[in-house]
Amino acid sequence: MLPVRRPGSRKSVEEAIPLYPSGTLRIHELTAEERAVYATLKPERLPEHVAIIMDGNGRWAGRRSLKRFLGHQQGAKSVQLVTETASRIGLPWLTLYAFSLENNLRRPKAEVSFLMRLLKSYLESNLQRMMDNNVRIRYIGRTHELPAEVQDKMRWAEEATAHNTGTTLTLALNYGGRSELVDAFRSLAAAMKDKHLPSDRITEEDIHRHLYTAHMPDPDLLIRSSGEMRISNFLLWQIAYTEIFVTERLWPDFRGIHLLEAIADFQRRERRFGGIGESCGEVEADPEQIKIAAS
Ligand code: FPP
Repeated sequence: MLPVRRPGSRKSVEEAIPLYPSGTLRIHELTAEERAVYATLKPERLPEHVAIIMDGNGRWAGRRSLKRFLGHQQGAKSVQLVTETASRIGLPWLTLYAFSLENNLRRPKAEVSFLMRLLKSYLESNLQRMMDNNVRIRYIGRTHELPAEVQDKMRWAEEATAHNTGTTLTLALNYGGRSELVDAFRSLAAAMKDKHLPSDRITEEDIHRHLYTAHMPDPDLLIRSSGEMRISNFLLWQIAYTEIFVTERLWPDFRGIHLLEAIADFQRRERRFGGIGESCGEVEADPEQIKIAAS
């Protein structure tokens, strides 16, 4: 599904119009440096959905001769600061890859257990800030496989923020893009069977409706920190036409200003969705007249 921009949903900084019924731009809360970058952006071309692969916590710690868990702890601070900047510029959807299925299976037990405790403590200690910033928190992934006490805390934060109308922060937890597709196809197959529908009736829209992300638009922009040129099994279906921005900066050093810089880079690009862009040559008025050169 191609992202659809609601016309006129954003105007100038000064007008501070509501984004959703009660969500508002809070540009005055940006830092002076952030405001300077924001001023270079075209408000009518802000992305609706930014997804981030948060990478480099371990390297951040390693470069300082610190234990890896301190990198994750610092990474959790970046999560909150970036989310707050996103909420101030009225970004409707922010999706963060916080814990993959592969992390769960392949990392040492002690690190996985630390990440689970960190998530619980993050939710507990940042709930008030989420409320103050009108942020709604949700999750995607096989979250039912996470420890029960972590699931309880997740539910608690989701319910507490359910009526907030600003940015929706989605944490991908125990998430894998391929397993999401497996889950979607299983649920779609069951629905088709119930309705006695043949498989050749399946459309892209049907698949979209069975993904964890059925309720949100596809990401316009995917950011990856720490310089790796990989997708790492993140939102495989949804990023078909997403612009990708890779920064060398390690996640614990990533701040709101870097989100704004990535958005500025995004705005310099021409998105074509498989069509033809403005700088792609003239279209032939009568294609029948074109001679095909022998090859
Ligand atoms: C990659 O760093 C990051 C992760 C494994 C998960 C991201 C986790 C956080 C940002 C902290 C907790 C998040 C929340 C929401 C509380 P890495 O360890 O793979 O880094 P490396 O590639 O340098 O080793």
